[in-house]
Amino acid sequence: MARVFHVTAGSSRSGRRRAEETPRVAPTPRRGGIVAGYLAPHPPHLVYAENPPQNEPRSTGGWEVLRWGYEELRTRLRAHEPDVLVVHAPHWITMVGHHVNCVPNPRGVSVEPIFPHLFRYHYDFRTDVDLAEAIVEEGARAGLVTSAMREDGVRVDYATIGALHLANPDWDLPVVSLSANNNPYYYSDASLAEMETLGAATRRAIERTGRRAVLLASNSLSHLHWDTEPDLPEDMGVERPFDHAQYAGDMELLQTIREGPTARLKEAVPRHIEATSSETKAGSLTWLLAAMGWPAIAGDVLAYGTVIATGNALVEWVAP
Ligand SMILES: [Fe+2]
Repeated sequence: MARVFHVTAGSSRSGRRRAEETPRVAPTPRRGGIVAGYLAPHPPHLVYAENPPQNEPRSTGGWEVLRWGYEELRTRLRAHEPDVLVVHAPHWITMVGHHVNCVPNPRGVSVEPIFPHLFRYHYDFRTDVDLAEAIVEEGARAGLVTSAMREDGVRVDYATIGALHLANPDWDLPVVSLSANNNPYYYSDASLAEMETLGAATRRAIERTGRRAVLLASNSLSHLHWDTEPDLPEDMGVERPFDHAQYAGDMELLQTIREGPTARLKEAVPRHIEATSSETKAGSLTWLLAAMGWPAIAGDVLAYGTVIATGNALVEWVAP
Protein backbone atom coordinates (compact mmCIF):
# COMPACT_ATOMS: atom_id res chain seq x y z
CA MET A 1 0.00 0.00 0.00
CA ALA A 2 1.31 3.41 -0.87
CA ARG A 3 2.33 5.51 2.07
CA VAL A 4 -0.28 8.20 1.38
CA PHE A 5 -3.09 5.61 1.78
CA HIS A 6 -1.82 4.21 5.08
CA VAL A 7 -4.53 4.71 7.72
CA THR A 8 -3.19 5.26 11.21
CA ALA A 9 -6.32 6.26 13.15
CA GLY A 10 -10.11 6.58 12.95
CA SER A 11 -12.78 4.33 11.49
CA SER A 12 -12.44 2.57 8.19
CA ARG A 13 -15.04 5.00 6.78
CA SER A 14 -13.15 8.12 7.88
CA GLY A 15 -9.95 6.52 6.70
CA ARG A 16 -11.46 5.89 3.30
CA ARG A 17 -12.71 9.46 3.10
CA ARG A 18 -9.28 10.78 4.09
CA ALA A 19 -7.66 8.65 1.42
CA GLU A 20 -10.05 9.99 -1.21
CA GLU A 21 -9.20 13.54 -0.19
CA THR A 22 -5.45 12.95 -0.31
CA PRO A 23 -3.77 13.87 -3.61
CA ARG A 24 -2.43 10.75 -5.30
CA VAL A 25 0.68 12.53 -6.55
CA ALA A 26 2.55 15.02 -4.42
CA PRO A 27 3.17 18.22 -6.44
CA THR A 28 6.72 18.60 -7.67
CA PRO A 29 8.33 21.58 -5.94
CA ARG A 30 9.11 24.39 -8.40
CA ARG A 31 12.83 24.51 -8.98
CA GLY A 32 14.54 27.85 -8.46
CA GLY A 33 17.48 29.09 -10.48
CA ILE A 34 17.86 29.96 -14.14
CA VAL A 35 15.42 27.82 -16.10
CA ALA A 36 15.98 29.19 -19.61
CA GLY A 37 17.72 31.89 -21.59
CA TYR A 38 16.70 33.61 -24.82
CA LEU A 39 18.54 35.65 -27.39
CA ALA A 40 15.82 38.28 -27.73
CA PRO A 41 16.75 41.18 -30.04
CA HIS A 42 15.03 44.53 -29.75
CA PRO A 43 14.64 46.21 -33.17
CA PRO A 44 12.05 48.95 -32.56
CA HIS A 45 10.57 48.04 -35.95
CA LEU A 46 9.19 44.78 -34.52
CA VAL A 47 7.27 46.64 -31.81
CA TYR A 48 6.12 49.26 -34.35
CA ALA A 49 4.90 46.47 -36.66
CA GLU A 50 2.76 44.95 -33.89
CA ASN A 51 0.80 48.15 -33.13
CA PRO A 52 0.56 47.55 -29.38
CA PRO A 53 -1.50 50.18 -27.52
CA GLN A 54 1.61 51.33 -25.59
CA ASN A 55 3.38 52.50 -28.77
CA GLU A 56 2.21 55.77 -30.33
CA PRO A 57 3.13 55.26 -34.03
CA ARG A 58 0.88 53.04 -36.20
CA SER A 59 2.03 50.61 -38.88
CA THR A 60 0.60 48.25 -41.48
CA GLY A 61 2.76 45.33 -40.23
CA GLY A 62 6.02 43.94 -41.57
CA TRP A 63 8.81 41.61 -40.40
CA GLU A 64 6.20 38.90 -39.82
CA VAL A 65 8.52 35.89 -39.65
CA LEU A 66 10.49 37.40 -36.77
CA ARG A 67 7.27 38.39 -35.03
CA TRP A 68 5.84 34.88 -35.44
CA GLY A 69 9.08 33.63 -33.89
CA TYR A 70 8.44 35.90 -30.93
CA GLU A 71 4.95 34.39 -30.59
CA GLU A 72 6.59 30.98 -30.21
CA LEU A 73 9.14 32.41 -27.78
CA ARG A 74 6.31 33.79 -25.61
CA THR A 75 4.59 30.41 -25.49
CA ARG A 76 7.79 28.68 -24.44
CA LEU A 77 8.69 31.38 -21.92
CA ARG A 78 5.27 31.03 -20.21
CA ALA A 79 5.73 27.26 -20.02
CA HIS A 80 8.84 27.80 -17.88
CA GLU A 81 6.69 29.61 -15.28
CA PRO A 82 9.36 32.16 -14.30
CA ASP A 83 9.12 34.42 -11.25
CA VAL A 84 11.18 37.09 -12.96
CA LEU A 85 12.70 38.16 -16.28
CA VAL A 86 16.32 39.37 -16.13
CA VAL A 87 17.42 41.38 -19.17
CA HIS A 88 20.82 42.68 -20.29
CA ALA A 89 20.55 45.33 -23.00
CA PRO A 90 23.13 47.23 -25.06
CA HIS A 91 21.53 50.68 -25.12
CA TRP A 92 21.49 51.39 -21.41
CA ILE A 93 25.10 52.42 -21.71
CA THR A 94 26.97 53.13 -18.49
CA MET A 95 30.51 54.41 -18.85
CA VAL A 96 31.56 53.40 -15.32
CA GLY A 97 30.54 49.99 -14.06
CA HIS A 98 27.55 47.69 -14.37
CA HIS A 99 24.33 49.28 -13.20
CA VAL A 100 21.16 47.49 -12.14
CA ASN A 101 17.77 49.19 -12.18
CA CYS A 102 16.47 49.13 -8.59
CA VAL A 103 13.50 51.49 -9.14
CA PRO A 104 10.43 49.56 -7.90
CA ASN A 105 8.01 50.82 -10.56
CA PRO A 106 9.69 52.31 -13.65
CA ARG A 107 7.22 54.17 -15.81
CA GLY A 108 7.52 56.71 -18.60
CA VAL A 109 7.97 56.93 -22.36
CA SER A 110 10.86 55.16 -24.06
CA VAL A 111 11.93 56.70 -27.36
CA GLU A 112 14.27 55.29 -29.97
CA PRO A 113 16.49 58.28 -30.78
CA ILE A 114 17.16 57.32 -34.41
CA PHE A 115 13.61 56.12 -35.09
CA PRO A 116 11.37 58.32 -32.92
CA HIS A 117 8.72 58.06 -35.65
CA LEU A 118 8.57 54.28 -34.99
CA PHE A 119 9.04 53.89 -31.24
CA ARG A 120 7.52 56.07 -28.54
CA TYR A 121 6.49 53.46 -26.02
CA HIS A 122 4.65 54.05 -22.74
CA TYR A 123 5.95 51.60 -20.14
CA ASP A 124 4.91 50.81 -16.57
CA PHE A 125 6.39 47.70 -14.96
CA ARG A 126 7.55 46.24 -11.66
CA THR A 127 11.15 45.57 -10.66
CA ASP A 128 12.18 42.63 -8.50
CA VAL A 129 14.17 44.93 -6.23
CA ASP A 130 15.44 42.15 -3.93
CA LEU A 131 16.99 40.30 -6.85
CA ALA A 132 18.29 43.52 -8.42
CA GLU A 133 20.08 44.44 -5.19
CA ALA A 134 21.44 40.91 -4.86
CA ILE A 135 23.00 41.17 -8.34
CA VAL A 136 24.63 44.48 -7.36
CA GLU A 137 26.04 42.84 -4.22
CA GLU A 138 27.25 39.67 -5.93
CA GLY A 139 28.85 41.67 -8.73
CA ALA A 140 30.73 43.86 -6.26
CA ARG A 141 31.79 40.80 -4.28
CA ALA A 142 33.26 39.37 -7.50
CA GLY A 143 35.34 42.52 -7.99
CA LEU A 144 33.17 44.38 -10.52
CA VAL A 145 32.25 48.04 -10.28
CA THR A 146 28.49 47.90 -9.78
CA SER A 147 25.82 50.44 -8.97
CA ALA A 148 22.19 50.31 -7.90
CA MET A 149 20.24 52.77 -10.05
CA ARG A 150 17.56 54.26 -7.77
CA GLU A 151 16.65 57.47 -9.64
CA ASP A 152 12.93 57.36 -10.21
CA GLY A 153 12.05 58.82 -13.60
CA VAL A 154 15.23 57.86 -15.48
CA ARG A 155 14.04 56.88 -18.96
CA VAL A 156 14.40 53.17 -19.65
CA ASP A 157 16.22 52.53 -22.93
CA TYR A 158 14.46 51.08 -25.98
CA ALA A 159 16.58 47.90 -26.07
CA THR A 160 15.36 46.93 -22.60
CA ILE A 161 11.75 47.89 -23.32
CA GLY A 162 11.77 46.35 -26.81
CA ALA A 163 13.01 42.93 -25.66
CA LEU A 164 10.69 42.89 -22.66
CA HIS A 165 7.65 43.85 -24.71
CA LEU A 166 8.36 41.31 -27.42
CA ALA A 167 9.00 38.52 -24.89
CA ASN A 168 6.12 39.39 -22.56
CA PRO A 169 3.72 42.02 -23.93
CA ASP A 170 1.43 41.52 -20.92
CA TRP A 171 4.16 42.86 -18.59
CA ASP A 172 2.80 40.64 -15.83
CA LEU A 173 6.19 39.43 -14.57
CA PRO A 174 8.67 41.39 -12.45
CA VAL A 175 11.83 42.50 -14.19
CA VAL A 176 15.49 43.09 -13.41
CA SER A 177 17.37 45.14 -15.99
CA LEU A 178 21.16 45.42 -16.29
CA SER A 179 23.16 48.08 -18.13
CA ALA A 180 25.87 47.57 -20.73
CA ASN A 181 29.16 48.78 -19.31
CA ASN A 182 31.36 48.02 -22.30
CA ASN A 183 30.29 50.64 -24.79
CA PRO A 184 30.13 48.85 -28.15
CA TYR A 185 29.97 52.03 -30.17
CA TYR A 186 33.14 53.59 -28.79
CA TYR A 187 35.45 50.58 -28.64
CA SER A 188 35.95 48.09 -31.44
CA ASP A 189 36.82 45.11 -29.28
CA ALA A 190 35.11 45.64 -25.96
CA SER A 191 36.19 42.93 -23.55
CA LEU A 192 33.72 40.15 -22.98
CA ALA A 193 35.69 38.83 -20.00
CA GLU A 194 33.79 40.97 -17.51
CA MET A 195 30.54 39.53 -18.82
CA GLU A 196 31.69 36.13 -17.60
CA THR A 197 32.06 37.58 -14.12
CA LEU A 198 28.76 39.46 -14.33
CA GLY A 199 26.99 36.34 -15.56
CA ALA A 200 28.32 34.24 -12.69
CA ALA A 201 27.33 36.96 -10.22
CA THR A 202 23.83 37.08 -11.72
CA ARG A 203 23.51 33.32 -11.30
CA ARG A 204 24.61 33.44 -7.66
CA ALA A 205 22.12 36.22 -6.93
CA ILE A 206 19.28 34.28 -8.54
CA GLU A 207 20.14 31.14 -6.57
CA ARG A 208 20.59 33.10 -3.34
CA THR A 209 17.16 34.68 -3.62
CA GLY A 210 15.51 31.43 -4.73
CA ARG A 211 14.06 32.98 -7.85
CA ARG A 212 12.99 31.00 -10.88
CA ALA A 213 14.41 33.20 -13.63
CA VAL A 214 14.37 33.47 -17.40
CA LEU A 215 17.22 35.50 -18.91
CA LEU A 216 16.92 37.73 -21.97
CA ALA A 217 19.96 38.84 -24.00
CA SER A 218 18.74 41.83 -25.99
CA ASN A 219 21.19 41.63 -28.92
CA SER A 220 20.91 41.62 -32.68
CA LEU A 221 23.55 39.72 -34.69
CA SER A 222 25.21 41.25 -37.81
CA HIS A 223 24.90 44.98 -37.46
CA LEU A 224 25.67 46.88 -40.65
CA HIS A 225 22.49 48.60 -41.76
CA TRP A 226 20.99 50.96 -44.32
CA ASP A 227 21.33 54.72 -43.83
CA THR A 228 18.17 55.59 -45.72
CA GLU A 229 14.60 54.54 -45.06
CA PRO A 230 11.81 53.84 -47.57
CA ASP A 231 8.74 56.09 -47.51
CA LEU A 232 6.87 53.21 -45.91
CA PRO A 233 9.19 51.99 -43.10
CA GLU A 234 7.64 48.51 -43.24
CA ASP A 235 8.20 48.15 -47.01
CA MET A 236 9.42 44.54 -47.11
CA GLY A 237 10.35 44.95 -50.76
CA VAL A 238 13.63 46.53 -49.65
CA GLU A 239 14.32 44.37 -46.57
CA ARG A 240 17.29 42.03 -47.04
CA PRO A 241 20.72 41.29 -45.53
CA PHE A 242 23.30 44.06 -45.84
CA ASP A 243 25.46 41.78 -47.98
CA HIS A 244 26.28 38.11 -48.34
CA ALA A 245 29.24 38.25 -45.96
CA GLN A 246 27.02 39.57 -43.15
CA TYR A 247 24.42 36.88 -43.83
CA ALA A 248 27.03 34.12 -44.05
CA GLY A 249 28.60 35.27 -40.79
CA ASP A 250 25.23 35.03 -39.04
CA MET A 251 24.57 31.57 -40.48
CA GLU A 252 27.96 30.31 -39.31
CA LEU A 253 27.23 31.47 -35.77
CA LEU A 254 23.69 30.04 -35.80
CA GLN A 255 24.98 26.71 -37.09
CA THR A 256 27.38 26.57 -34.14
CA ILE A 257 24.51 27.43 -31.80
CA ARG A 258 22.30 24.70 -33.33
CA GLU A 259 25.03 22.08 -33.04
CA GLY A 260 26.16 23.00 -29.52
CA PRO A 261 27.62 22.76 -27.00
CA THR A 262 27.54 26.38 -25.92
CA ALA A 263 31.25 26.39 -24.93
CA ARG A 264 32.08 26.56 -28.65
CA LEU A 265 30.58 30.04 -28.62
CA LYS A 266 33.40 31.35 -26.44
CA GLU A 267 35.49 31.46 -29.61
CA ALA A 268 32.69 31.77 -32.16
CA VAL A 269 31.13 34.94 -30.71
CA PRO A 270 34.32 37.11 -30.87
CA ARG A 271 34.98 35.78 -34.40
CA HIS A 272 31.42 36.67 -35.41
CA ILE A 273 31.78 40.16 -33.90
CA GLU A 274 34.94 40.72 -35.94
CA ALA A 275 33.26 39.52 -39.15
CA THR A 276 29.88 41.24 -38.83
CA SER A 277 30.15 44.11 -36.30
CA SER A 278 27.68 42.04 -34.33
CA GLU A 279 25.76 43.77 -31.57
CA THR A 280 26.78 40.89 -29.29
CA LYS A 281 29.93 42.92 -28.65
CA ALA A 282 27.81 44.70 -26.03
CA GLY A 283 28.11 41.46 -24.08
CA SER A 284 24.48 40.47 -23.52
CA LEU A 285 24.81 37.03 -25.12
CA THR A 286 28.06 36.23 -23.30
CA TRP A 287 26.48 37.34 -20.00
CA LEU A 288 23.51 35.03 -20.61
CA LEU A 289 25.57 31.95 -21.42
CA ALA A 290 28.00 32.60 -18.56
CA ALA A 291 25.07 32.93 -16.16
CA MET A 292 23.73 29.59 -17.40
CA GLY A 293 27.19 28.07 -16.81
CA TRP A 294 27.92 27.45 -20.52
CA PRO A 295 25.65 24.37 -20.58
CA ALA A 296 26.64 21.45 -22.83
CA ILE A 297 23.53 21.79 -24.98
CA ALA A 298 22.47 23.11 -28.37
CA GLY A 299 20.37 26.24 -28.78
CA ASP A 300 17.03 26.13 -30.56
CA VAL A 301 16.86 28.81 -33.27
CA LEU A 302 13.21 29.93 -33.40
CA ALA A 303 13.55 32.52 -36.16
CA TYR A 304 15.98 34.62 -38.16
CA GLY A 305 15.35 37.72 -40.23
CA THR A 306 16.78 41.11 -41.09
CA VAL A 307 15.64 44.52 -39.89
CA ILE A 308 17.01 47.45 -41.92
CA ALA A 309 19.64 44.87 -43.01
CA THR A 310 20.80 43.85 -39.50
CA GLY A 311 20.60 40.14 -38.66
CA ASN A 312 18.26 39.11 -35.86
CA ALA A 313 17.82 35.64 -34.39
CA LEU A 314 15.57 34.33 -31.63
CA VAL A 315 17.23 31.48 -29.78
CA GLU A 316 16.21 29.38 -26.78
CA TRP A 317 18.51 27.54 -24.38
CA VAL A 318 16.72 25.47 -21.74
CA ALA A 319 18.71 24.81 -18.57
CA PRO A 320 19.52 21.09 -18.32
FE1 LIG B 1 20.37 47.78 -30.86
